[in-house]
Amino acid sequence: MQVVVCKNASEGAEIVTEEILSALSKKPELVLGLATGSTPIEVYERLICAHKEDGVDFSSVQTFNLDEYCELNADHPQSYRTFMREHLFGEINISEENIHFPPSEGPELAEKCLRHEEEIRQAGGIDIQLLGIGSNGHIGFNEPTSSLASRTRIKTLTEKTLRDNSRFYEDPSEQPQVASTLGIGTILDARRILLQAYGDKKAEAVKASVEGPISSFWPGSALQMHADVTFVLDESSAAHLEMIDYFRKSRTEGLRLQKDNTA
Ligand code: GLP
Repeated sequence: MQVVVCKNASEGAEIVTEEILSALSKKPELVLGLATGSTPIEVYERLICAHKEDGVDFSSVQTFNLDEYCELNADHPQSYRTFMREHLFGEINISEENIHFPPSEGPELAEKCLRHEEEIRQAGGIDIQLLGIGSNGHIGFNEPTSSLASRTRIKTLTEKTLRDNSRFYEDPSEQPQVASTLGIGTILDARRILLQAYGDKKAEAVKASVEGPISSFWPGSALQMHADVTFVLDESSAAHLEMIDYFRKSRTEGLRLQKDNTA
């Protein structure tokens, strides 16, 4: 596990965007796992900029979003499909058939979720998985006590998550109570994972995920079992980390080695 403590969220977004663009330049048919929420928005803005200003081509990229609400139409302003269209897909040259969301509508959802896992496998697996984290430690919509081996399925949202996201709904009765989400096991299958967390509201979840024991009570802690994961943080979200000085030092040393090797 790597932990990068940035001076602010913008520096974090730059690091994440650079890694995606570098991977894309080596593999045009990159398979990206994407997140919603406020955290990844600047990365999406930077990817749009790379497309519009530098001609970066997304036509062979495949995307798999982490989660989607179950009781909202695809075109509802709060659906994650609307979010992704507005914040990324509508502004780059990705093909509609290369965009995937976990099944969230209609009958036989459990079977459809299993087929979704198969679609990820057929695409060759997720190359880079972007993650945010909920203040209760959820990744995707894998709420506390989700099985660490879970696959794509429907989850009931916790009161904490509902409270955190209630600001998006004028009418509280419209807020969905259930969502479909890639499982923790599905997320851990990604080759590379980049988790961004910014602001003091995430500090407790970051501390538990990075330094706590692995526990389904803090789903982010499952990432400790992944061989290639980086937590990209700012000073506020990293503030509770006991090993913050070590993380700062290992970043400086890593940069120094990189410089020596390219000199
Ligand atoms: C939602 C999403 C998560 C996201 C989290 C944090 O509940 N399902 O994928 O990581 O919120 O959101 P934000 O980035 O807005 O803090």
